[in-house]
Amino acid sequence: SRTVMPGQTGAATATVERTAGAAVHILYGSQTGNAESVAEDAAAAARAHGLEPLVAGLDTVDINALSAMRRVLVITSTYGEGEMPDNAQLFWDAVESESAPRLEGLYFGVLALGDTSYDGFCQSGKNIDARFEALGGSRVVDRTDCDVDYEDPAAEWIVRAVAAVAGVDGDAGAAASPVASTPTKTKSQWTRKNPYPATVLANRLLSGEDSAKEVRHFTFALGEDGLDYEAGDGLGIRPINDPALVEAIILQIGASSDYVVTAKDGSSAPLDQVLTSDYEISIPSRDLIEDIARRSGDAELQHILDTEDREALDAWLWGKDVLDLLQLDNSIRLNPEDLLALLRPLQHRVYSISSSPLAHDGTVHLTVASVRYRSGERDRGGVCSTYLADRVGEGDRVGVFVSKNNSFRLPADDTAPVVMIGPGTGIAPFRAFLHERRARNASGQNWLFFGDQHQSSDFIYEDELNGLTRDGVLTRLDLAFSRDQSEKIYVQTRMREQGRDLFDWLENGAHVYVCGDATRMAKDVDDALHEVVAEHGGLDADAAEDYVNNLKRSKRYLRDVY
Ligand code: 2AM
Repeated sequence: SRTVMPGQTGAATATVERTAGAAVHILYGSQTGNAESVAEDAAAAARAHGLEPLVAGLDTVDINALSAMRRVLVITSTYGEGEMPDNAQLFWDAVESESAPRLEGLYFGVLALGDTSYDGFCQSGKNIDARFEALGGSRVVDRTDCDVDYEDPAAEWIVRAVAAVAGVDGDAGAAASPVASTPTKTKSQWTRKNPYPATVLANRLLSGEDSAKEVRHFTFALGEDGLDYEAGDGLGIRPINDPALVEAIILQIGASSDYVVTAKDGSSAPLDQVLTSDYEISIPSRDLIEDIARRSGDAELQHILDTEDREALDAWLWGKDVLDLLQLDNSIRLNPEDLLALLRPLQHRVYSISSSPLAHDGTVHLTVASVRYRSGERDRGGVCSTYLADRVGEGDRVGVFVSKNNSFRLPADDTAPVVMIGPGTGIAPFRAFLHERRARNASGQNWLFFGDQHQSSDFIYEDELNGLTRDGVLTRLDLAFSRDQSEKIYVQTRMREQGRDLFDWLENGAHVYVCGDATRMAKDVDDALHEVVAEHGGLDADAAEDYVNNLKRSKRYLRDVY
């Protein structure tokens, strides 16, 4: 007999109350929560304009209902190198397909979020924008492609987009569409632009001394008027650059540290300070690379740029920071203003929070691997992870803000079983989930797949996990230590070995979560999940894919991967 598909336990269907205001559907594709947050801003603006906003993730939209929606604003980020975010892929598959319905009655606009340092900048937004038009939809507002500093251009787009959809009359789209609406949440005053100065309570080593890795645990005080977060959220950190690298760059350009530079906003500050806090000096910007190629006449680099060979450029850039580029030709004389004009603003880094606000009252925890390597006779480090590891101690203040991730949440139903797959620092949100479930007294079963190189040095949080097992919170723990034997054992090896049970858990309504490396682990885990479903559900490949897609649609297969 055929396997029963996962139930429709996901988002509730909104009942659209018809009011005087015309409905505008604000659909987001979000990987880390930024696009969702912008969608909420757009909803607030629409409401202020007398419209009736309905906010929903793209994957909750039935393609056949799309043209009847009439007014649609799409806000989507791009993931990886030009890929759709997790909650937009199924939608895109349907829109892209040859059998997609025409969209003649649709008035739409697209806001794309992206990062110019990746290939396929804003590709998801570009694709949706072009495809809607090709299907006969009418674009009422031009697309804006935002780089990492998205707040201002997004706000400008919202003003134009809301005015444009408000100007669309007629009400062919009055029919309520099956779209989930999310209530508006009050936003934190602490943002990327205005981080909260959190006091550091702890910075300790989790991994063993003989581990190949250095994984650390950080605890920050939330403070009285501090931050609100939920298990599953991320914490944004404003890093501070390595002062030794700053000093070396200043020396290289022959300037002095106290040289005063004037910013665009008219404020002025010493050069060493702005290089330390405001500009990206580890990863060279495209502008700097092109400028240095021109000035230095480096034939190899110039050739790579001319041929637009992205792979060759990545290989050439590997291990090179701003100082390396400046040192490519010591006769290059850049004055401080020229240099700053070629640098990108220093970006925050987001880490998955590893604590639960219920269990770890008043604090927020991170689990961070320090990125360290050697290249070109110099020791190098990840900007934020080594800032935290080496230059932050008890009592120091760190600029932080909560990066909401409403799509990575424990099931609302405390009795639902949960499967968590998180090797390495991918364990972070699952430590949060397990403590949260204990604090909630949730009766649902919990199964964790964890792994790393060696049990003796990399089994982080071992005591805590044992405690959670003793307390009956952690029902099952499957470990995959890849280098403790001759053949590699990975989390997906354990998933396959335990496939029968894993499938039973799915049939019993389990929610599956994956956190960690996106490029290899998450893809292999996804393959393993499909195989387990096919083998133990007696399904062919297509039916297994449908099964997993239904898990996604009902929000029972969620990923926090990077
Ligand atoms: P390895 O480095 O021994 O190959 C955390 O980094 C763990 O993930 C390590 O044990 C690492 O093993 C493992 N890992 C590496 N590639 C992986 C993959 N494609 N899928 C799952 N785990 C992987």
